[in-house]
Amino acid sequence: MKLIVEKDYQGLSKRAADIIREEMNRKPDLVLGLATGSTPVGMYKELIRFHKEEGLDFSKVTTFNLDEYVGIDKGNPNSYHYYMKDVFFDHINIKPENTYIPDGNAPDLEKHCKEYDRLIEEKGGIDVQVLGIGENGHIAFNEPDDELNVGTSIVKLTQSTIEVNSRFFDSIEDVPKFAITMGIGSIMKARKILLLANGIRKSNVIKELLKGDKISTRLPASILLLHPDLTVIVDEEAYNG
Ligand code: F6R
Repeated sequence: MKLIVEKDYQGLSKRAADIIREEMNRKPDLVLGLATGSTPVGMYKELIRFHKEEGLDFSKVTTFNLDEYVGIDKGNPNSYHYYMKDVFFDHINIKPENTYIPDGNAPDLEKHCKEYDRLIEEKGGIDVQVLGIGENGHIAFNEPDDELNVGTSIVKLTQSTIEVNSRFFDSIEDVPKFAITMGIGSIMKARKILLLANGIRKSNVIKELLKGDKISTRLPASILLLHPDLTVIVDEEAYNG
């Protein structure tokens, strides 16, 4: 594991975007795994700036998002479909047909999950996967449990995740109870992983992860310690608490 500690959120965002730009320069048809949530917003802003100011070209890039709520409309401002367009895709020259996000309204969800993993394989696998981390150690929506899913699956969100995510919804009752998420195996197959964490709220889980001595399904992010190309980028608040 490579650890990068940046002074603040701006530094973390710039560093993550720099790494993605480097990878895109190396491979213009990069397959990029993307996350939503608060953490990567600054990284997306930097990538948009690279596109606008330096002509960073996304026309050959393919993206796969980690997750989506079940039973939420794509046009709902709380859907991850909406987020991705709003925060990133509408501001770069990516082709909409090259952007993949699980469909939480698919008629056959189980089948859709299998197809999602198959599609990732068909596109050659994910080159760089960007991840945030939950305060409870989840990655994507792989929540702490006795066992974790290998492939893309439907999962029940924990009460703590529902509470944390309720900040984006009008009320906690509006937060969906289920999500589709890439599994731990789907994530681990990515050739390179960037895990980002900022702010004091993440300091406990980052401290636990950086001990680096144990993996546990109770701390899903700890499985990433087995990945041969993991870079963890944190700011000083997440690092020092
Ligand atoms: C988002 C995702 C989640 C978040 C995590 C951290 O696609 O998969 O695992 O990365 O919940 O969320 P933030 O960044 O809002 O603290």
